[in-house]
Amino acid sequence: MNMIAKKFPNAALIDGEWVTSNKTFPVYDPATGEEIASVPDLGAKDALRAIDAANSALPTWSTKTAKERAAILKRWFDLVTAETESLAQLMTTEQGKPLAESRAEVAYGASFIEWFAEEGKRAYGRTIPTTVASKRYITIKQPIGVVAAITPWNFPIAMITRKVAPALAAGCTIVVKPAAETPLCALAVAKLGKDAGLPPGVLNIVTTKDAPAVGKVFCEDPRVRKLSFTGSTEVGKILYRQCADTVKKLTLELGGNAPLVVFDDADLEQAVAGAMASKYRNAGQTCVCANRILVQSGIYDGFAAALVKAVNKLTVGPGLEPGTAIGPLISSEAIAKVEALVSDAVKKGAKVLTGGTLDNAGPLFYRPSVVGDVTADMSIVQEEIFGPVAALVRFDTEADAVKLANDTPFGLAAYLFSQNLGRAWRVAEKLDVGMVGVNEGIFSNEVVPFGGVKESGLGREGGAEGLEEYLETKYICLGGIDA
Ligand code: SIN
Repeated sequence: MNMIAKKFPNAALIDGEWVTSNKTFPVYDPATGEEIASVPDLGAKDALRAIDAANSALPTWSTKTAKERAAILKRWFDLVTAETESLAQLMTTEQGKPLAESRAEVAYGASFIEWFAEEGKRAYGRTIPTTVASKRYITIKQPIGVVAAITPWNFPIAMITRKVAPALAAGCTIVVKPAAETPLCALAVAKLGKDAGLPPGVLNIVTTKDAPAVGKVFCEDPRVRKLSFTGSTEVGKILYRQCADTVKKLTLELGGNAPLVVFDDADLEQAVAGAMASKYRNAGQTCVCANRILVQSGIYDGFAAALVKAVNKLTVGPGLEPGTAIGPLISSEAIAKVEALVSDAVKKGAKVLTGGTLDNAGPLFYRPSVVGDVTADMSIVQEEIFGPVAALVRFDTEADAVKLANDTPFGLAAYLFSQNLGRAWRVAEKLDVGMVGVNEGIFSNEVVPFGGVKESGLGREGGAEGLEEYLETKYICLGGIDA
């Protein structure tokens, strides 16, 4: 086993016990192809056991005070923060992102634990002015119950804590199925939660290669009252359908196709910096990465040249090597998809301005690229690229930009760059998305609501809205009060 992987568990966590199995699956370092560990390949029966455990733990956990739950969550935050360096190394080893980005993700992931520890204390109900003299109306907030979560590989810690922390703060218990590519980060963070004092059954981690079987159990078990999923729109739709029979509450963080709009009146330096931050973070493997860079005619050539210059400075290599800005993609399928999208664009008339090929660093490394003269009929602007390729589309008027930006079934994030406040506000209001960055390429943090509209999903994570997802509102009518 790899040295850093040895520091943390490689067994699943059910009812407070580390669970092993004769059936396991390997976890690879995408930078080297080395097998770094293997973890239990659990199935439907184990998923049921985990739900049993979460269900048994629910009455005690949900009746603790928010302050008592917060004390455990804060200890968890402290332990995760203290382990930043080893968690970051583990993350880079199993996911591939540069070490600096992994350190930032550990801090980002921990921030959800700290924020929701406090926010759980503010699950306020309301008193509503009465309409009948003998009655009083009150609402209270209660935990929704057992939660199941299915999390992705691109942010192997933050996408877990963004779901687990609000669920636990609200008084719910939870079963998590982490991505098969990155189970080690999930298990490491769960171990620290156990060390912090999370009681058995409150947080369970089911590792598996058989996502459909485990996902089906999560969706169909009536004791699970909420499913939270981050992943593709295609899988999200399957889970949505499977949850219909038990009428579960759902949070779905699905695919995106973010437009990044650069107007003629943008500050060029700011627009390039924003595009770099949004496009090349995690080698382009985020749901909110700029997927279509729409550039107004007057600034197009200047922007393209400045972007190419900035992109050519990015160093490609294994994430553990100092100075690396672009690590490997997660799999050969991811590389094949990026290659196919670039080739389709070139066939239809786009021009590769830089990159456009694999990098010498290894089979999963793609050179950070810029493709110009992209048009709306090309797959590269219709599908999520999930790789380090910027696709530049030229437009003429503000109305054209809004039309192009909204011409997609997705609606997660958008970015716009303009020094004209009126235009920035007007366009931000017209974009059919859940989140807009104005003169800013990075907007995620623990205190704001993250989520999309249209086929990008349902619900919000983070901020006050993120806690609400794990609460039910109960209305109580108090009668018999003398007028
Ligand atoms: C994602 O790619 O799904 C998450 C990105 C973020 O939290 O900023």
